[in-house]
Formats: sequence, C-alpha cells, structure tokens
Amino acid sequence: MRDQPNIAVIGAGVIGTTVAKLFQDQLRNANITVIADKYSADTTSDIAAGIFRPGTSFKGPTMEITKKWLKDSWQFWQDILKTPDAEQMGVMPLGSYIFSKENYHVTRNHLMEDLVPIYRPATKEELKMGPEGTKFGSYFSTLKVECERYLPWMGKIIVERGGKMTRGKVDSFASLSNYDLVFNCAGLGARHLCNDHDLVPIRGQVIKVKAPWVKYALYGDYDTYIIPGLNGVVTLGGVRGYDSYNLNYCKYDAAAILERCCEFLPNLKNAEVIAHRVGLRPHRLPVRVEPELIDGLKVVHCYGHGGYGVMTAPGTAINAVELGVNFLRSNVKNKL
Ligand SMILES: Cc1cc2nc3c(=O)[nH]c(=O)nc-3n(C[C@H](O)[C@H](O)[C@H](O)COP(=O)(O)OP(=O)(O)OC[C@H]3O[C@@H](n4cnc5c(N)ncnc54)[C@H](O)[C@@H]3O)c2cc1C
Ligand SMILES: *[C@@H]1O[C@H](CO)[C@@H](O)[C@H](O)[C@H]1NC(C)=O
Repeated sequence: MRDQPNIAVIGAGVIGTTVAKLFQDQLRNANITVIADKYSADTTSDIAAGIFRPGTSFKGPTMEITKKWLKDSWQFWQDILKTPDAEQMGVMPLGSYIFSKENYHVTRNHLMEDLVPIYRPATKEELKMGPEGTKFGSYFSTLKVECERYLPWMGKIIVERGGKMTRGKVDSFASLSNYDLVFNCAGLGARHLCNDHDLVPIRGQVIKVKAPWVKYALYGDYDTYIIPGLNGVVTLGGVRGYDSYNLNYCKYDAAAILERCCEFLPNLKNAEVIAHRVGLRPHRLPVRVEPELIDGLKVVHCYGHGGYGVMTAPGTAINAVELGVNFLRSNVKNKL
C-alpha cells in the first residue's frame, strides 16, 4: 500500500460525505477527493426530513447486517447528541407518534423496537391526537438529522484535513483508474454507473412550513407525516411514486399532503410555506455495500438506501470504510 493512497469518493450526499469523513478517521494520511455534480442544497439528502425510523422493508444482505447497520447508526447519532455541537450539526432528539385508523401492524416496527429506549403503545388519551377514528397508535423516542447543517459541517472537516471536494460528473469507473480505491456513493446516479436495474427511484414530495409549535413527529395512514425540525421548520409529507423520475413539483400532491396533515393539526392550514421540495429516493433491495474489482480498479459500493439514507448513513459508511481499508491493503492486483 502506498504511503498516501489516493482515494476518490463519488457523491457528496449524506452517504459520500459520511464515508469520506469516516475513511479519514481510519486513515489520516489518505488523499481523499470527493467528486460530485451536486452539493448540499442540490442533493436528495438535503430534501429529507432525516428522521430515524427505518421502514420495516429496509434491508441489507442479511438480517444480522441490517441490524448492525442500524445499531451502529443509532450509536453514531447518539454520540453526537452527547456533544455541544449536536444542534449545529443538525442532530436533535425527537418524540414521535404513529397512528392508524385501520392497521395495527403499521404501528409496530421490529427494527425500531429493538433499538430505541422507548417504544410503547399509545394511551387512550394519546390516540385522540390522531385524526377522527384513530384506533391504533405507538409512541417512540427517536432523533432526526438535518442535512442542511450536517453536510456542510462534515464537509468542512474533510477539507480541513486536506481532503478535496470537486465538482464533476463521473461517466465511468475507467475514468478513475489512477485512484487506488473508489467509493461509489452516487445514490440514484449508480443506476447508470453500474448499469444496476435493481436501483429504482421512489419519488417523494414534501412541503416545508414554519410551525414552531409542533413538538412531536406524527405519522398517519397514506404516507402522511409531520416532522418538526430546527428553527421551527416542519416537514409535511408525503408521497411514494415507485419508478417515477418526475422531479417536478405537483400541485395535486401538495394539496393532498396538506389535507391529510390538517386532519392531524388543522392549524397547519395557516402555516407559512417555506418551500416545496421533490426528490427521488434511491431504492434498492438490498442496499448495496460491497467491494468489487472493476477492470483492476478497487471499488466499494455504498448506495441504494431508499427512504432511509440519512438515518442509516453512519452504519453503512462504517461497513463500507472497513471493506475499503481491507481492500486497499489486499493483494488483488491493481490494473490487471
Ligand atoms: C421526500 C423525501 C423524504 C425523505 N425522508 C427521509 C428521512 O426522514 N430519513 C431518512 O433517513 N431518509 C429520508 N429520505 C431518503 C434520503 O434522502 C436518501 O436515502 C439519501 O439522501 C440518499 O443519500 P445519497 O448520498 O445516497 O444520495 P444523494 O443525496 O442523492 O447524493 C448523491 C450524490 O452523488 C452525486 N452523483 C451521482 N451520480 C454521479 C456521477 N455520475 N458523477 C458525479 N457525482 C454523482 C450527486 O451529485 C450527489 O452529490 C427521504 C427522501 C426523500 C426524497
Ligand atoms: C491527491 O489526489 C489528487 C487527485 O487525484 C491529485 O491531484 C494529487 O496529486 C494527490 N496528492 C498526492 C500528494 O498524491
């Protein structure tokens, strides 16, 4: 292995940024170059509410790995919450309710119940917080991460340590053959880079409103959610459009989201709208965290986190970085 290996990270979303920082933690002398055509506000990561609540369909290659990713991620965010920097990094604790009129099972989540300190059925009193006719509910303690703060914070550390963040589009891995190791954290961009048809966009749209009086996250039927964040900004959602590439704002989606959210909190009708955002979740089952030798180039993939990439970035990044360090030290021949 070279004294100062040259490492490329494709992608500056929450995955690429976390991988780059954690790789530097492991190998301080690494020469890291992040290459991305989109940064901070232009990434999918920036649109996410960033709440820690894996869908029950979230999965890695095995249940054991899935649970390790989640546990490592939870620990990573908990460690940040113990520091005075948490808020500046965009990380905050958050209580959350999930309610349903029809389905008991949606109020349960085996991945969360094993992980968070509190996950309990909602009381009769609490069920009244849901819309008329709410029958089932749970309360759980969790946290959320705002990429608007997290990405610049991590980016600054990467650059202070000598990493470079460059703007550019990677058309093929062959163009990176001069690097010793490449992390592919391209999100949906990996579909083209890897010709991976298992990677599918799931379109999402949200409304960001100013409503500092909302103190809990609320989930309801039909993909409805209300997620409060820093500065009194609340994210209202949502929609899930499988295999849709439509990045345009849809006024009918916005109207439906607002109507469903107002079933919980009628006062949201009067909240000031800050922005409408649309993003494509990079969905893949399982999420791909895997080394691959591509024409002699050592590549570690880390993409396909779907609707859960912010919360699971640390766990999958720890896994990817470990694979990368081992790959770099291994004797498979570079440039065959
Ligand atoms: C509406 C909505 C709500 C969400 N809510 C949550 C939530 O509450 N909690 C949660 O955990 N997750 C949530 N998500 C999911 C989360 O946003 C994604 O899982 C996550 O952002 C994926 O991160 P990423 O870094 O892989 O992708 P991205 O943020 O899309 O970053 C990809 C990066 O790769 C770069 N790139 C791609 N291709 C190339 C190329 N060929 N050359 C150079 N650069 C390239 C891009 O420019 C970009 O920098 C939500 C998503 C949406 C749309
Ligand atoms: C670090 O990587 C960049 C990008 O590949 C390269 O231009 C630079 O020469 C490298 N620096 C060292 C010291 O190898």
